[in-house]
Amino acid sequence: MRNVTAVRNKPLMASSHSSRRKQQLKTKPINPFLRFSVILLTFLSLLSIALYSNRTRTRNEREAVAYSLWLEPPTTDDLSSRVENFIVENAKNDVAFKPHVTLLGPIYDENERAMVAKTENLVREIREKMMKKTTTTFNIRFPKGAQVGQTYFQCVYLEAELTSNLLHAREKAIELFDIRDARRYTPHMSLAYGDDSQGERLRLKLKADEVFKKAFSLSNTDEENEDETYEESFNATSVSLWKTDVEDKSCKSWRKVKEFPLFP
Ligand SMILES: *[C@@H]1O[C@H](CO)[C@@H](O)[C@H](O)[C@H]1NC(C)=O
Repeated sequence: MRNVTAVRNKPLMASSHSSRRKQQLKTKPINPFLRFSVILLTFLSLLSIALYSNRTRTRNEREAVAYSLWLEPPTTDDLSSRVENFIVENAKNDVAFKPHVTLLGPIYDENERAMVAKTENLVREIREKMMKKTTTTFNIRFPKGAQVGQTYFQCVYLEAELTSNLLHAREKAIELFDIRDARRYTPHMSLAYGDDSQGERLRLKLKADEVFKKAFSLSNTDEENEDETYEESFNATSVSLWKTDVEDKSCKSWRKVKEFPLFP
């Protein structure tokens, strides 16, 4: 509007100039319409992409259930009970789960019998590999202590050392379960799940630092602890197959399908 009044108030302006202005004024109303059309088209195409991908996802996941392979610390272990206590004591909205290191998951499948058979094969492969090395100790170590993550399922956790045993088991699992989009493996034992703020995660981490030792911590010089390695670890004695609907953030529906001993 400003331009229009400016033109009106200056009758002495050169005629060529003012006609160019008029032309500009005439063509201008088209631009918002064009812009609107482009926005509308973009919106419609994004909407159709979203609807389409949503439909294919529900089609794939209608029958499929999410499974996970876990390495659980023996329930008699001191570490296991400390982790379990920490989980329960610090659970938000009662989000409690069993102490574990996930080997692989989520694996989407509708055939539980196939899942069981594949886990059996995996356990056999792991056992054979360890027999070759003449060891029956699948040691999982947590030398770094508690860490803070960025996702719901990696809120606060004990990071595990990626040993050759773990790496081999992971690679075999990916192969046997035919997983094509496996992410980089960061083995860990979760202490809390949640979408907590960074501050809240750090507060939990500091609390965990009081319970879980880091490797070679020099702060602890108690006489009675002299022989300890100052490192948290457990010896995995089995691989368990869990049904873990990752959409169920409360974990209440999670259940163990079967546990397969590594050294029967
Ligand atoms: C794991 O096994 C090794 C070798 O048998 C043993 O020395 C160690 O104490 C075990 N660790 C735990 C946490 O039980």
